[in-house]
Amino acid sequence: MARHIDILEHPQTAIEVATATLAEGLPIGLPTETVYGLAADATNPAAITRIYETKGRPRFNPLICHMSDLAMAERYAVFDPISRKLAEAFWPGPLTLVLPLRSDSGIHPLATAGLDTVGIRVPQGFAGELIRAFGRPLAAPSANTSGKISATSADHVDDDLGERITLILDAGASVVGVESTIVKVEDGEIRLLRPGGLAASEIERVAGKALKRSKKASAAIEAPGMMASHYAPGAAVRLDATDVLANEVLIRFGAPDIAGSEKAVAVLDLSTAGDLSEAAANLFDFMKRADATGAATIAFSHIPDEGLGEAINDRLRRAAAPRE
Ligand code: TXA
Ligand code: MG
Repeated sequence: MARHIDILEHPQTAIEVATATLAEGLPIGLPTETVYGLAADATNPAAITRIYETKGRPRFNPLICHMSDLAMAERYAVFDPISRKLAEAFWPGPLTLVLPLRSDSGIHPLATAGLDTVGIRVPQGFAGELIRAFGRPLAAPSANTSGKISATSADHVDDDLGERITLILDAGASVVGVESTIVKVEDGEIRLLRPGGLAASEIERVAGKALKRSKKASAAIEAPGMMASHYAPGAAVRLDATDVLANEVLIRFGAPDIAGSEKAVAVLDLSTAGDLSEAAANLFDFMKRADATGAATIAFSHIPDEGLGEAINDRLRRAAAPRE
């Protein structure tokens, strides 16, 4: 069983035990503002191998490398002016930049799946402090079995991976609730590789230009974790529901009028006020709760595609995708 340490009650113990565990090459459950990560030393091949094994993740899918700040990131990757501007505006925060890797970076090729680029993010709060104390970047995918719903609490991590890891740091519920937004600057254009916890419109405001949302196949190769079935609960998922069918949980956004709500197995409200940030923060926990009812299907009412709605709908489409 994994040991839990509450980082608010015992911050110093958390730093000491976590740095010692990471130095042994073991992955830990790490709270970030987006989702909980399964974090390990990005320079240690044995440690990275343990991340892939613990998650059952395909090794061609590169990991995001987390840094304490922009100065640290610049030691590992080469920044173009637009990427630097975005880093200065949004780090620490839910933005991942894909950048050319420095040849002498020390980040192990297993972390980048052999690519000549690296996805870098500077997380808010405790995770950044831990990386500063550890002194090396942490590779960290979301702390869940590959293809399943991401973890937004220490209990989610424990339920899924508790038998396979030794340490989970607990900071309560992740405030953002969906993974970071991933962009890559190429020839002065900003490509959105994954919508996430930073709204695309925020990036466009700072960059002063529109993001390229590429639907072309290369996006599948560059962000392979983003394709096909992912974020999958045990139940089937039905989107844009306007009614409730037999044996369904209903998850609502806003206060929609949904026919047959009274016969739903359960009704959960992502945000009665129609606040997309609140909905994002609740999303994965509600999917797990809906799944735990044993209902055959989880029906979602319509969620607008603006702001964080783009990331929410991206996750829901993957959750609803045909499974292998
Ligand atoms: O919020 C987050 O980003 C969370 C927390 C823990 O920080 N992490 C996370 O990592 O979502 P992960 O491994 O589940 O997602 C990484 C995504 C994958 O889709 C991967 O393909 C893409 O980032 N990625 C990583 N490095 C890349 C690179 N060099 N080029 C293109 N895509 C990359
Ligand atoms: Mg993930």
